[in-house]
Amino acid sequence: MSIDFAKRNAAQAALKYLVPGEILGVGTGSTVNYFIEGLAARKADVPGAVSSSEASRARLKAAGIPVVDLNSAGTLALYVDGADECDAHLRLIKGGGGALTREKIVAAASRTFVCIVDESKRVQVLGKFPLPVEVLPMARSYVARELVRRGGRPTLREGFTTDNGNVILDVSGFTITDPVALETEINLMAGVVCVGLFARRPADVLLVGNSTGVREYKR
Ligand code: 5RP
Repeated sequence: MSIDFAKRNAAQAALKYLVPGEILGVGTGSTVNYFIEGLAARKADVPGAVSSSEASRARLKAAGIPVVDLNSAGTLALYVDGADECDAHLRLIKGGGGALTREKIVAAASRTFVCIVDESKRVQVLGKFPLPVEVLPMARSYVARELVRRGGRPTLREGFTTDNGNVILDVSGFTITDPVALETEINLMAGVVCVGLFARRPADVLLVGNSTGVREYKR
């Protein structure tokens, strides 16, 4: 219950970053769902949103917010999304909801990335949460072997297909002391579509909610 208050507090705090009249990017997950609720009350300021997933697209539409294709939106002023883990440098593990690829694209296309989390997501070193890797289906076994060679323990996310028609390997066993290097290395494996490390493009602002309020961190 208190984790819900924490997520809601972080989501509410992100509303102050809205740029009235500008299309924004919206991520995926239970914390973002609270943000979408908040957006519904600010509709006059929001001409449209680019969604990072089909799930958020449906929620935005239900909230009466027009969903816009990224190709016609140009650079976005703001992207708001959650995370599965975050460190002191605002580097993230994302993809618990399986939307990592579109999330990384929208984050890359945005000037300011505001990440909203509850305090359970903060860690000293990334890697306790299994690292999601989106992979083309035919490359699943090859990429799994490559990840094992580098010390990971990949598990196929059973019964799950991404919005892009791919599969996810959730990789345990990494202690991620150099997130930029690992992100680069996994990205370069043939068949990998995207790795859920957001270190090359970390968040710009981190809003950490707890049951009574929110703390803000900036890069
Ligand atoms: C989805 C994500 C989410 O942002 C992440 O899983 C956090 O979700 P939640 O807000 O439900 O804890 O990366 O792909």
